[in-house]
Amino acid sequence: MTAESVPVAVVTGANKGIGREIARQLAVRGLVVYLGARSERRGREAESALRADGLDIRFLHLDVTDETSVALAAKRLEDEVGVVHALVNNAGVGGPYLPPSRTSAAQVRETYDTNVFGVITVTNALLPLLRRAGSARIVNVSSAVGSLSAAAANVDPTGVHLPGEFPTLLAYNTAKAALNSVTVTYANELRGTGILVNAASPGFVATDINGHHGILTPEQGAHIPVLLATLGEDGPTATFLGENGTPEGQVLDW
Ligand SMILES: NC(=O)c1ccc[n+]([C@@H]2O[C@H](COP(=O)([O-])OP(=O)(O)OC[C@H]3O[C@@H](n4cnc5c(N)ncnc54)[C@H](OP(=O)(O)O)[C@@H]3O)[C@@H](O)[C@H]2O)c1
Repeated sequence: MTAESVPVAVVTGANKGIGREIARQLAVRGLVVYLGARSERRGREAESALRADGLDIRFLHLDVTDETSVALAAKRLEDEVGVVHALVNNAGVGGPYLPPSRTSAAQVRETYDTNVFGVITVTNALLPLLRRAGSARIVNVSSAVGSLSAAAANVDPTGVHLPGEFPTLLAYNTAKAALNSVTVTYANELRGTGILVNAASPGFVATDINGHHGILTPEQGAHIPVLLATLGEDGPTATFLGENGTPEGQVLDW
């Protein structure tokens, strides 16, 4: 706990888009929020804008693909607050918009660096701080396109595309499927520790990642990640909630 016993959240990739809105909504709920960003300029700009609204938002330099950056961020959190109650692994990249047959292994590897390995690096670095909270939450911002059940049925789990037009993106979709598996694997290790680990699908949100073609606002997209980051102690672990989900039901199929 901080000196004031205010819960602490860390949100990665929070300088814009859904992550910035997750940071804002958590701060509005009274949490101290460390706003992770790989660019100091973009992170400071977001911090200033949100602090102008009276929120306790603190820029945290954090490139999820850079182990040194992650270790330095963890060290700063250790020194300043000594505990983290909620980690939202939100940082993500889109990957190439190509069919599998025209996607290279290098492109897949690059997407996984951020969307999968970045999550593992940050989670492992912050776990000692999360364990100290006694009851903490880890939220991995996934996507409905990571659902293997939906992919196997060749249906668009978001309902956005026409039948048969569901994009089968090798890098992005399989990275989110891997992230779902990462989520369940951590959840199982951490059962009984008070740390709940869940995946959120924010819905199809208008942000830079999709050229602002999404149909939801970042405010709407932040809803499920924030809900999972603030679950009560009796909340679920190892669940996958879509934009209309509730902890009691309407989970997405893995
Ligand atoms: N938008 C959607 O419809 C949608 C749907 C399903 C899931 N999601 C997921 O939601 C999350 C947020 O996406 P978004 O839609 O808000 O996209 P966005 O506006 O492009 O935001 C992505 C964020 O991730 C950051 N980021 C990228 N690589 C990073 C790295 N190596 N280290 C730290 N931060 C990094 C970006 O920072 P820079 O500004 O420095 O690039 C940016 O802050 C992603 O995980 C995405 O896959 C989005």
